[in-house]
Amino acid sequence: MPDLSTNCGGIKSPNPFWLASAPPTNSGLQVQRAFDAGWGGAVWKTLGQPIQNVSSRFGATKVRGLAGIGFSNIELITDRSLDVNLREIYETKKMFPHHALVVSLMVETRQEWQDIIKRSIDTGADGIELNFGCPHGMCERGMGSAVGQEPSVNQEITSWAVQHSTVPVLVKLTPNVADILPHGHAAKRGGAHGVTLINTIKSVIGIDIDQFLMEPRVDNRSTNGGYCGAAVKPIALHMVGALARDKSFGLPISGIGGISNWRDAVEFLLLGSSSVQVCTEVMLRGYRVVNDMVEGLEEYMRKHNFTKLDDLIGKAVPSFSEWGNLDLNYETVAKIDASQCIGCNLCVVACHDGAHQCIHPNADEKIRVPVVDESECVGCNLCQIVCPVAGCITMAEVDNGFSSATWNEHVNDGKPLRPKKGVHH
Ligand SMILES: Cc1cc2nc3c(=O)[nH]c(=O)nc-3n(C[C@H](O)[C@H](O)[C@H](O)COP(=O)(O)O)c2cc1C
Ligand code: SF4
Ligand code: SF4
Repeated sequence: MPDLSTNCGGIKSPNPFWLASAPPTNSGLQVQRAFDAGWGGAVWKTLGQPIQNVSSRFGATKVRGLAGIGFSNIELITDRSLDVNLREIYETKKMFPHHALVVSLMVETRQEWQDIIKRSIDTGADGIELNFGCPHGMCERGMGSAVGQEPSVNQEITSWAVQHSTVPVLVKLTPNVADILPHGHAAKRGGAHGVTLINTIKSVIGIDIDQFLMEPRVDNRSTNGGYCGAAVKPIALHMVGALARDKSFGLPISGIGGISNWRDAVEFLLLGSSSVQVCTEVMLRGYRVVNDMVEGLEEYMRKHNFTKLDDLIGKAVPSFSEWGNLDLNYETVAKIDASQCIGCNLCVVACHDGAHQCIHPNADEKIRVPVVDESECVGCNLCQIVCPVAGCITMAEVDNGFSSATWNEHVNDGKPLRPKKGVHH
């Protein structure tokens, strides 16, 4: 049986699956139910000065009939009293001593940080997470992403927290920045034990086109919210990967953003996360989604002969490179497996209108399987993406006789490039 236990910045948990700080970690009864369901850790809904929330507060995108691909909220930090939250954290930690219980915090002044950190640690919590990410409401009050977007402020508050904390400090970064690296390094300079990313992305989820109102509607107004859910995974992976491959960074990463199943989780682990956090998928489908995550990860590890998580954490990081280091002479072409093709011609439409006009209807009208003109195919993948039959179109490597040459090698050393394809003169 593979060992799923992990240690993220000094915070240990029986598996890498943590609930992110959000409504599913609002109260003791919820977190206790989640641990019973199989979650290895939880980051409590952010504590601070309790706030007043608006109604309504969530929105979701619908893409071709599928709701919730992207999710948005304009909710603030916890609206429950600090005393009640701290008591429930204490009780939960007592009941689940081996699970990771992390307290998310957001306050303003140095004195407030010192006080709330001390009280949080007194609950027996395993770590604290500094919420420098909330992109609505709290940032207008000088907290959340207002801190996360200013490396010097991030560093200073992190250093206060580290000074006052006897447990590991994770800094939760905002994705609402052009480049994540200076912000990760600011947390590192402040002494953080690890970083968590991403928080939500500043966004407008949609417009009610008949009432002429932005959503989610609060009477006759709305405001920008925080975007999350499956749609944000590529952005989160990019930011996690950018930090993981920066050799001068080196802090543990707790990865979040659009994780919906075990595969998504594995992707974050392979790109350098040592724990993963989930919010939207649990809000939409409940704590039970962790069953698929645990079973899927175990099965995946067995398949690849990984006995412990460290065997896979970061394994895909070396594949993340600059564009200038990609081999321009590497070449693939699309191949259609005629025995699987259902003759829908979606690939023909896609290639003709969105690619390089090199998949054609079969000249023999009785045969529905299209034909790829390999001399023109640039190997872009589009036909494979639109094909509804998994495995029907594969991208096959071509031996074109050219040895590897990157753009950088071409410019610096004059390495020859293969002739271009799909360029209609
Ligand atoms: C309704 C809602 C409330 C949230 N509240 C908090 C919060 O209090 N503190 C925090 O650090 N992040 C908060 N988040 C952000 C999540 O913890 C997480 O970073 C983000 O949703 C991305 O993960 P996901 O794609 O799995 O949802 C909230 C997210 C949602 C949807
Ligand atoms: S890989 Fe791109 S260029 Fe080649 S056949 Fe498919 S869609 Fe056309
Ligand atoms: S999209 Fe796939 S199934 Fe449809 S015609 Fe093309 S190869 Fe065949």
